[in-house]
Amino acid sequence: MSALKFICLIFLVTQARSSPIQPKNTEYRLPDGAVEVNTYDIELTLKSDVFETNQFSGVAEVLFKNMKETNEIKIHANKMTFSEIVLETVDGTQIGLQNEGNFEIDSATDILTLTTDTSLAQGIEYRLRFTYEAELRTNEMYGFYKSSYVAADGTTRYLGTTQFQPTHARKAFPCFDEPFYKAIFKIKIRHPNQYRADGNTVGTSVVDPQDNTALITTFAPTPRMSSYIIAFVVSDFTCSGGAEIEPGIPHQVCSRDEAESTREVAVNVGPNLTWALEEFTNIKYSESTITKLDQFAIPDFSAGAMENWGLITYRETALLWDPLESSNRYKQRVETVISHELAHFWFGDLVTTKWWSDTFLNEGFATYFEYLATAEVEPTWGMEKQFVIEQLQPVLVSDSSVNSQALSAEASTPDQVSGRFSSISYNKGGSVIRMVAHFLGAEGFRNGIRKYLEDNKFGSTTPADLWRALTESTTVLPTSVSVIMDNWTYKAGYPVLQVKRNGDDVVVTQERFLISGTPEDTEKWYVPISYTTSTDSDKFLDTSPKVWLNPLTTNVNITDALKERDWIILNNQQTGFYRIDYDDNLWEKIKIALTQTGFDGIHELNRAQIVDDYYNFARAGLHSYSSFLELIKFLKADSSYYPWYSAFTAFSSMLQRTGDEKIRAGLHEYIRELMVVLYNTVPFNKPNDDDQIYTHKRVLAVTWACNLEVKDCIDNSLAAFGTYRNTATRPDKNLRSVIYCNALRHSNDPGDWEYLWEQFGTSQIATEQVTILSALGCTKDDEIRKKYLSLSINSTSGIRQQDALSVFSAVYSGNPDGVDLAFDFLLENYEDIYEYYASMNSFRNLFSGLANRFTKKQQTDKLSDFIENTPNLPESVETAARGALSTALNNLEIIEQFEKELSQYFNVGSASSAEPARLGFATTVTTLMVLLYKAF
Ligand SMILES: *[C@@H]1O[C@H](CO)[C@@H](O)[C@H](O)[C@H]1NC(C)=O
Ligand SMILES: *[C@@H]1O[C@H](CO)[C@@H](O)[C@H](O)[C@H]1NC(C)=O
Ligand SMILES: *[C@@H]1O[C@H](CO)[C@@H](O)[C@H](O)[C@H]1NC(C)=O
Ligand SMILES: *[C@@H]1O[C@H](CO)[C@@H](O)[C@H](O)[C@H]1NC(C)=O
Repeated sequence: MSALKFICLIFLVTQARSSPIQPKNTEYRLPDGAVEVNTYDIELTLKSDVFETNQFSGVAEVLFKNMKETNEIKIHANKMTFSEIVLETVDGTQIGLQNEGNFEIDSATDILTLTTDTSLAQGIEYRLRFTYEAELRTNEMYGFYKSSYVAADGTTRYLGTTQFQPTHARKAFPCFDEPFYKAIFKIKIRHPNQYRADGNTVGTSVVDPQDNTALITTFAPTPRMSSYIIAFVVSDFTCSGGAEIEPGIPHQVCSRDEAESTREVAVNVGPNLTWALEEFTNIKYSESTITKLDQFAIPDFSAGAMENWGLITYRETALLWDPLESSNRYKQRVETVISHELAHFWFGDLVTTKWWSDTFLNEGFATYFEYLATAEVEPTWGMEKQFVIEQLQPVLVSDSSVNSQALSAEASTPDQVSGRFSSISYNKGGSVIRMVAHFLGAEGFRNGIRKYLEDNKFGSTTPADLWRALTESTTVLPTSVSVIMDNWTYKAGYPVLQVKRNGDDVVVTQERFLISGTPEDTEKWYVPISYTTSTDSDKFLDTSPKVWLNPLTTNVNITDALKERDWIILNNQQTGFYRIDYDDNLWEKIKIALTQTGFDGIHELNRAQIVDDYYNFARAGLHSYSSFLELIKFLKADSSYYPWYSAFTAFSSMLQRTGDEKIRAGLHEYIRELMVVLYNTVPFNKPNDDDQIYTHKRVLAVTWACNLEVKDCIDNSLAAFGTYRNTATRPDKNLRSVIYCNALRHSNDPGDWEYLWEQFGTSQIATEQVTILSALGCTKDDEIRKKYLSLSINSTSGIRQQDALSVFSAVYSGNPDGVDLAFDFLLENYEDIYEYYASMNSFRNLFSGLANRFTKKQQTDKLSDFIENTPNLPESVETAARGALSTALNNLEIIEQFEKELSQYFNVGSASSAEPARLGFATTVTTLMVLLYKAF
């Protein structure tokens, strides 16, 4: 599955479902090794009124070998009614079932337990047949569900589509719904003849002999595979084909017909990305035995995309791209998401994580190859570098919390399983794999990966299987890859290396980095260290480790590292998953080097690393914010995208913590001055769309210039929007989000908002619709903003449920006062919102998105008042609200210090004097202050 990067909808729900009696965690799992599944034969029937009744019927037969003598069979199912369940031996002898006629699924565990009259023998095959009715889901985007769109002729069209990962195949047919239980699936769908049916494998359709308005589509048997990557789509879609993957293996991209002109990028890059992955893995796609490759754009989709073998499904914005209307950023998203899903064919579909505790075995690789495969097809995009700022640096932040989970962590309940689809499995998984690739060397890594896949194809693995396969290395390792990687796999967090000067030597030690301050434990890791000094000629290019830190010894000394040299910087191109803090003397040397011509050769990724590390040291109280703002003044002369990306991330985080107007103004002034050169290198009216990094930089710089009220930027935005309204000429596709947003932000004409809202309703291009949705939150008109929020929870407004949350974030991030407005709306309408979002688990994201922006005690007071005094608050809302409150209270504590220090730095008088956030954490605050003022 690909996560939703743009609105950060990563599942964070870890609390158990609310049922009066919580089953024990193990009861959610099927009994270990009870059966070996052989084949499923599944026949689904969709009647002509399927999209009115939202019901379908099925006959599902599973052939399995019983592995332990038993009187019980346990299998997954969710919300289905059985008219018949038959258990028989392969020669057709029926075996009596005790609960005949009264089959109850446990609603908490989704397990159906069948008790047999006579015991089942070990090693014998049985056949189990279910005849059932089930729901085509309409209020969730999981299982077999209904999606719709409005066609060019104005009619609403429906489709049935699936999302089974991680625990939803059981909503379409009874099955052993854990990834380990691989089987061959033979699927047949009977459906009305105005639709086509597509599945994982090639389908052939014949007219139903009993009903000439129906077709029966029979799919070729699948390879041995897990239930969560089964998929089918019943739709009126059309498709575009291009080059074959291999002779006889066609590739096509399918969507609603209206979007036909936006399929070209996907049609073109699909085969090339597949070839890049075949080349790396040395395994052809055709080894799957699937003889086609389809990619489908689904109008309603919960994740970003899903790697169903042979039939990948996507959100429209992650697959369809219009050359005139969609931005370069979306083109990159399309190509990287396709890479991510294609990589899953090898990492996930062919070789599968045994259980979701190790989701990173699927998602970490997919994230890594998202960049690597795209780099093969788009060599000018700097994908390896973008990995550092988009994947590694953000997860260094989330993994610095005391509550962070390890790469490998227990998961039993469906909610805990969803919780494993987190930035730890994706970003940290990918970053740690990248670290391994660099310390093994490219060739050793590739050979190891090939061995891992070859040894485990059509099977399932644990992390130990992976690390064991990676034995070849061109560099000397301190011990086996398995021992090195154990600490990275089973422990949460990562180290900060402390580098101290000792004469000409440097001494390196490590401890866990926590944003909340010094850790209590003494966790240690095997840490590969590359480094560069001021006199090295191959500056920063060699990423193989020169020394290792070992968890069993306290330090490593790099002898003579500074003999006749000015500076040393560790972790070339930030290939290792850790931060580095130097002593005052060494930081001072780095600071001086950064002011030299060409930054004295310090690599742009290491400049980004310095910015990102130092800001987080300030947050953790290891250095002061003022020394951060001094250190990064080198950016005045820097126009590289990467360090600026890290800097803007830091500035966003700082501005989110600033409730005080004077400090906000001080920060704005500081950033405006710092970015003069940057802004001049990427002028508003100078597009160069063929240069990807230039374009990313331009969008970033222009967005910030307008946010900081740079006049040139706002004037240009208003002019472009005026032209748009008068002549219907849409603005520069790459700056559209900035132009729309700032035009509405600075507009006094409510007609501007209405105009854009109409464009949302009439656009047939998903990227344009989503761009408009976020811009609509930029208005400062309170009445319009309230109306907009209520439209997001109104199913007739045209805003899809999948996008409702982005309307909220558009409002609370559009303007500083949007936080209170969206918060009040949430409190006043929580019942409607709860109902509308019921199955989406979004409440937590809603509350935490808001609470992360709280800067005043009034706001936390209001939230705690809501929690204490609202009668009958649903448990999930209360849990979400309490979680957000605790984060917000922690933030306030930090904000007090932060504002105090920044008001001194900007010399703007005492901060927040109107409403000091007194929380009575005297001891913590004192310790923090000592740390905060330890300037270098
Ligand atoms: C895909 O590969 C073919 C053959 O190597 C090449 O001609 C084509 O330009 C490539 N297309 C893209 C989009 O890279
Ligand atoms: C970390 O590594 C050390 C050295 O191999 C080992 O003693 C320790 O048990 C490991 N800890 C974890 C949690 O893996
Ligand atoms: C490294 O240097 C430290 C501090 O100078 C010293 O105490 C330690 O013994 C040295 N360790 C090694 C392995 O040389
Ligand atoms: C939903 O929106 C429609 C118009 O788009 C409006 O007529 C209706 O009253 C709204 N429903 C609610 C519950 O606000």
